[in-house]
Formats: sequence, structure tokens, C-alpha cells
Amino acid sequence: METIFLIGYMGSGKSTVANILSRKLNLPKIEMDEEIIKKSGKSIPEIFAQWGEEKFRSIETEVLENIPPKGYVVSTGGGVPLRAENQRLMDKGVVVFLNAAWQTIAERLEHDKSRPLWQTDVEENKKRFMDRLNIYTSCADITVDVDGYSPEEIADQIITEC
Ligand code: S3P
Repeated sequence: METIFLIGYMGSGKSTVANILSRKLNLPKIEMDEEIIKKSGKSIPEIFAQWGEEKFRSIETEVLENIPPKGYVVSTGGGVPLRAENQRLMDKGVVVFLNAAWQTIAERLEHDKSRPLWQTDVEENKKRFMDRLNIYTSCADITVDVDGYSPEEIADQIITEC
């Protein structure tokens, strides 16, 4: 089976759904942020603060380059589809966009302190969310609406469509 890449904004449920898909499909899961932490020896906030976003994006691409085209479920970071190079790297698998409404994301991440880009002002975050919608949609093979569905239901929907 081709590797499944879950894409979508921070808080759209990529990690949770990836865990369920991994169990149901009996495929190993790769959490890209965890791979970045292992590779750099730093937390995500430390990378952003000490090295800046561009360096973070470069490590992200290196991690993506090493993901096999078959046999994995991948929870990508929310910014992965921003680089055309990353979009090409994901072409080798099935790209699934978890489409969550802004309200859902804002509620889920209300108290989040772990994501550097989320710590910016609400309007800036909302604009980033809107700007990324087109990118996520255009690079996805499958778009799954997540609002009102449980992670189990979302995983089942993905399995049906893959
Ligand atoms: C980011 C999303 C985060 C993490 C980093 C940047 C983004 O991952 O990669 O903070 O640009 O949207 P999650 O989508 O898993 O929160």
C-alpha cells in the first residue's frame, strides 16, 4: 500500500487520525515533528527561536526525503505542503487533507503553547489558515471533512477512499 500523508492545519487531528490508521491498517506511523526533534536534538520551539523558520523547513524537507513511498502512515507538520519540493516528495504516496473549520482549530488550540506559529496574533493565524486552505486542497488526492466526526469515523472514511 502507498504511504498515506495526512496534511492539514495545526490542530486538525493529523496525529490522532494517524495513530488510528496505523492500528487499523497495521502500518507503522511516522510523526514528522518527532523525527525533526530526534534529528536536531532540539524541541520545535527551540528550533524556531534559535535557528528560525527557514532552517526548520529545511530539516522538515530532509525528514520527508527519507520517508519510503510505500507502507507508512505519516502525520506531517502543518507547514509541509508550503514548499513545492515537499509537494513533489509526497506525490509518491496518497495525500489526505483533514479539513477542519477555523472555529474547530481555534477551540482545540486555545491553550496551546507548543506551536511557535500559533503563538502569533489571532488575525495573523486566521489569515495563515485561509491562505493555506488553497494549498492543502490543491495538493490533496483526498479531502476529508473532520467537523462533527470522531477520529475513528475519519480514519474509516480515509480507508474507504484510499
Ligand atoms: C507548523 C505545524 C506544526 C509544527 C510547526 C510548524 C505549521 O505541526 O510542524 O510548529 O507551520 O503549521 P502540527 O501541524 O503537527 O501542529
